[in-house]
Amino acid sequence: PKQPAAPPPDSGSLAGLRAEEAACTRCPLFSEATQVVPGEGPPDAPLMLVGEQPGDQEDLAGRPFVGPAGQLLDDIMVQAGIDRRRVFLTNAVKHFKYTLKGRHRLHQSPNGSEISACQWWLRQEIDLVKPRLLVALGASAAESLTGSRDGILKRRGQIEDGPEGLPVFLTVHPSFLLRLPDPVAREMETERFRDDLAAAREHLE
Ligand code: URA
Repeated sequence: PKQPAAPPPDSGSLAGLRAEEAACTRCPLFSEATQVVPGEGPPDAPLMLVGEQPGDQEDLAGRPFVGPAGQLLDDIMVQAGIDRRRVFLTNAVKHFKYTLKGRHRLHQSPNGSEISACQWWLRQEIDLVKPRLLVALGASAAESLTGSRDGILKRRGQIEDGPEGLPVFLTVHPSFLLRLPDPVAREMETERFRDDLAAAREHLE
């Protein structure tokens, strides 16, 4: 009888997953994006932070959280005592969704079907890394990880059940802070976000 084909050499690894993600056509977003942006970080990270989707700069770089929201997240992680090198950073959706305004690519939030199509990849990242805690940054990540679309501002700071019964700590997205026009409100919300990340870190201790 014919032997089953050997699995590809990187199957079951993050490198293998990246190669599969690069060929993804599970939703239409692949066709307009430059490239897929897979999650990044140590394969045994205890903490996984999940954003919404790559932005303009992430789409060009092929790496998560390298643009303005990522720089703010980096700063606040340092203040919260979280070492980025020990964190797996990823997104609910792996391709950039945008509309063109002149020459600018304006971010558009992914819809429910794009989020659910991309759960296929996020779940495999979670299965491979097996973090002890997931942090949902904003509503799209919360929807992907908990299945609930209830408002994130009411749920932030709390832990809910995620995939495989893993705890999901809910908080806002760093872009939310960047969009607040009032500097005083932005300062207050930034402090709250830092407190949320510190609480998430303490949860691991
Ligand atoms: N916003 C996200 O949610 N993810 C990124 O990777 C960058 C910005």
